[in-house]
Amino acid sequence: MIVNLYQQSLVSIDSLTAYKCQLIFNKAREMESLVNKKGGDERLKGKIMALLFFEPSTRTFSSFLTAMQRLGGGIIPINGMQNTSIEKGESFEHTIRVFSTYADIIVIRHLQKGLPQQASQIAQVPVINAGDGVGEHPTQALLDVYTIFNRFGQNKKLNITMIGDLRNGRTVHSLAKLLSKFELTEKINLISPQMLKMPPDVLSVLKKGAIDYEETEDLREVINKSDVLYVTRVQKERFSDIKEYEKFKSFYRVNRKLLEHSKKELIIMHPLPIAAGEIAAEMDDDRKSLYLNTQLKNGLYIRMALLDLILRKSS
Ligand code: NCD
Repeated sequence: MIVNLYQQSLVSIDSLTAYKCQLIFNKAREMESLVNKKGGDERLKGKIMALLFFEPSTRTFSSFLTAMQRLGGGIIPINGMQNTSIEKGESFEHTIRVFSTYADIIVIRHLQKGLPQQASQIAQVPVINAGDGVGEHPTQALLDVYTIFNRFGQNKKLNITMIGDLRNGRTVHSLAKLLSKFELTEKINLISPQMLKMPPDVLSVLKKGAIDYEETEDLREVINKSDVLYVTRVQKERFSDIKEYEKFKSFYRVNRKLLEHSKKELIIMHPLPIAAGEIAAEMDDDRKSLYLNTQLKNGLYIRMALLDLILRKSS
């Protein structure tokens, strides 16, 4: 059986196997050296990617855009639907049908969970989920696991701590699911206020993968054992009561003092944006912090890899 990603959609981590991830990671490595040597090439010349972002984005949008440009392809960049016919009442289905006529691949971000999945059933072309409400964010998880592998290799058992709004943060949903596909974790610590705990469907994936995990509120209990500290912001846009958000937004604050006795090898990750000081600015240029450098670069390589593997048969 030939296993590849050619013409396949990526709407959830569920469709990935460890083997497919290795294909993506190997290709990302190739992309890194391509970018460093020549900036890119023309392998996707003649291919068009539609970016349909119904929700705000800085990094995911521009890294997909850059990825396609570095491989010679064209883009339909729509960041915010306010100037499209959606404003006139056009349906989601028609919108997807239109772009699937113009483009060879659609990358979609939507506020409603499950919409990229729906789009993949409507479109004649592959669809990538770039974040669906409180659902998933598979390309972020791929770049996160790639970052962890690059730092620690694939044989070390790691103590991984995720902290913040685990209920609403789609990046941690996808990350936890993706980690469960590898024998990489010794333990996952899930740190959040009671109200913002990891959803049961994600926990059941961890259980099924026989991943040892523990839920607690107190970061101090686990910080000194952690190899990876993955911080997320409290997701303001998912709260109907702004007072609730205000209560939680600064629940945690990662700073030098807190990390005083952490492991020397600890890495600090965040999908960005940092919105309420959940990581203190004094950490931005710390050796341990990867969120303003390595993670950003890896996001580009992973997205280049995906475009190449999905759009080119020979790759
Ligand atoms: C994340 C997202 O949109 O889910 N951002 C990103 O894509 N890097 C994280 C967030 O907004 O908190």
